[in-house]
Amino acid sequence: MSEGYLQALKLRAERVERLTSWCTEHLASAESRVLEIGCGHGHFLTAYATANPKQNCVGIDLVTKRIEKATTKAEKRNLTQLKFLKAELSEFLEALPPEIQFDRVFMLFPDPWPKKRHHKNRMIQPAFLRRLTEITTPKADFCFRTDHEDLFAWTVEHLEQSPGWAINANAEWPLEETSFFQELMDSWRSLVAVKVKR
Ligand SMILES: C[S@@+](CC[C@H](N)C(=O)[O-])C[C@H]1O[C@@H](n2cnc3c(N)ncnc32)[C@H](O)[C@@H]1O
Repeated sequence: MSEGYLQALKLRAERVERLTSWCTEHLASAESRVLEIGCGHGHFLTAYATANPKQNCVGIDLVTKRIEKATTKAEKRNLTQLKFLKAELSEFLEALPPEIQFDRVFMLFPDPWPKKRHHKNRMIQPAFLRRLTEITTPKADFCFRTDHEDLFAWTVEHLEQSPGWAINANAEWPLEETSFFQELMDSWRSLVAVKVKR
């Protein structure tokens, strides 16, 4: 293994360790937890946390500037139960201590990666859906929205094939609030999946 590769592995392990400490400090004592993956500027989760003051909400995103903007929004509104965290999804999923589980997970307008050779980069993958069952409580739901038809069909297909999740066609979208990317779109499709009882 090259030295550069070993260094990258070491830095990743350090980031994961820091994320574990953050989760323990900020989420371990919460009674109800909600996660937004790829929260961008935090528009949606800020509105959701305002409407649901008893739920502890955390939004993660890769981009530092977006997390900073989102954090400013939460602080201005004095929403102490709302936190934004700069984290890459796979590192966050690896870092989460087993006792920290979410009651609801949002994914709104994730990058569609439209080219076939890039589909492997889509966040919705069998391994992600398996891990999602581990990091959620028994009655949890997964709320997904996209403007991209092919990504919507991909997500439906993956959820249908996943033993841990079932799409609930009758479930209502928990809160209508326009996210930053939604504002740019003419139309979108949503689904709510619930955890399958075992
Ligand atoms: C198209 S934007 C949507 C942002 C927001 N949900 C909205 O509706 O306005 C997708 C977001 O996902 C974030 N993202 C992409 N890949 C990610 C990853 N692996 N881990 C965490 N965030 C990621 C991007 O930085 C970006 O902010």
